[in-house]
Amino acid sequence: MRVEEILRKSELNREDLVYLMKIGSEEELEALYKKAYEVKEENVGKKVYYRGLIEFSNICVKDCNYCGIRKSNKNTEHFMMTKEEIMESAKWIYENNYGSLVLQAGERQDKEFVDFVEEVVREIKEMSQGKLGITLSLGEQSRETYERWYKAGAHRYLLRIETSNEEIYKSLHPEDRSHNFDTRIECLGYLREAGYQVGTGVMIGLPGQREEDLVDDILFYKENDIDMIGMGPYIIHDETPMGEAYKDRVLPKEKRVELGLKMIAIARIYLKDVNIAATTALQGLDPLGREKGLKAGANILMPVTTAAEHRAKYQLYNDKPCIDDTAEQCKKCLAGRVGSVGDEIAYGEWGDSPHYFKRS
Ligand code: 5AD
Repeated sequence: MRVEEILRKSELNREDLVYLMKIGSEEELEALYKKAYEVKEENVGKKVYYRGLIEFSNICVKDCNYCGIRKSNKNTEHFMMTKEEIMESAKWIYENNYGSLVLQAGERQDKEFVDFVEEVVREIKEMSQGKLGITLSLGEQSRETYERWYKAGAHRYLLRIETSNEEIYKSLHPEDRSHNFDTRIECLGYLREAGYQVGTGVMIGLPGQREEDLVDDILFYKENDIDMIGMGPYIIHDETPMGEAYKDRVLPKEKRVELGLKMIAIARIYLKDVNIAATTALQGLDPLGREKGLKAGANILMPVTTAAEHRAKYQLYNDKPCIDDTAEQCKKCLAGRVGSVGDEIAYGEWGDSPHYFKRS
């Protein structure tokens, strides 16, 4: 089998990666996932790290054509959690020994918001006596803002490139200055210079996206020396321009899940020592999506810990899973899922990307 030949090579080139991205038989896929799991074991171990996800606001200045909480979606019931509510979730995460948390929200650059985040980060650090790792996922900001939040105590940042293909990127966004591909790349540079462990990622199964584009996404991670990767299938949201345009044309669910798993596996094999998340979107299309993600080489899970009353309002795509669950239910459910794969939950650890420490 050509796949096995490629998987035995010590250095893969673009052509190899494209070949792997296009395989389709059960047998070939099994060989790919098995190899990816071995590379995961060797480089990051069989431990799964948790990041408790707090989605604290759905107010967003951006108008991305795919996203349910885009500015122009007038059906969104806006919310912004208070500092007390965020702290309550953060305490739950700390007391349940999750090791770190992610603060995610729609994008805003106003002073009130920037100050608010800085204060919240400080308080979480204090509350946990520095023990809780803090990741931010708050979009494009100025260099100064990134630096301020870093000084306050955040040490990881997630900013997805969404796709490394500039043409596709343009088709996903309104054509104005606030949705600029180069700005996104520039921000990844600011984050790195500020000292963060930098995470990025893409959506998989986008209209017009080919296997070659997905391979280029993985090469983009390599070129940009990325530490953490969060990627998942594109899922329609009805109240968006892309939802309307592509409802009947998007790749079948199974195909998007398969591509999502192949992306995880190939990224693991090619990049080796980075952190890779099995994302909620993967589970959104397949009830066993996250377990399959772990088996294909992912080592991070991001259990939603957002208070139940707000979950349904943070709807990036249709049928987001777990919106009726409490943090407690998610914890139990996930423990069973991780066990079923043969992995072990690393409670209480930060689980930093080993890649970060090898960076020059
Ligand atoms: N399908 C899948 N992922 C989505 N995101 C936003 N909308 C969708 C969607 N419809 C992802 C984007 C963003 C992250 C927070 O959520 O990649 O960066």
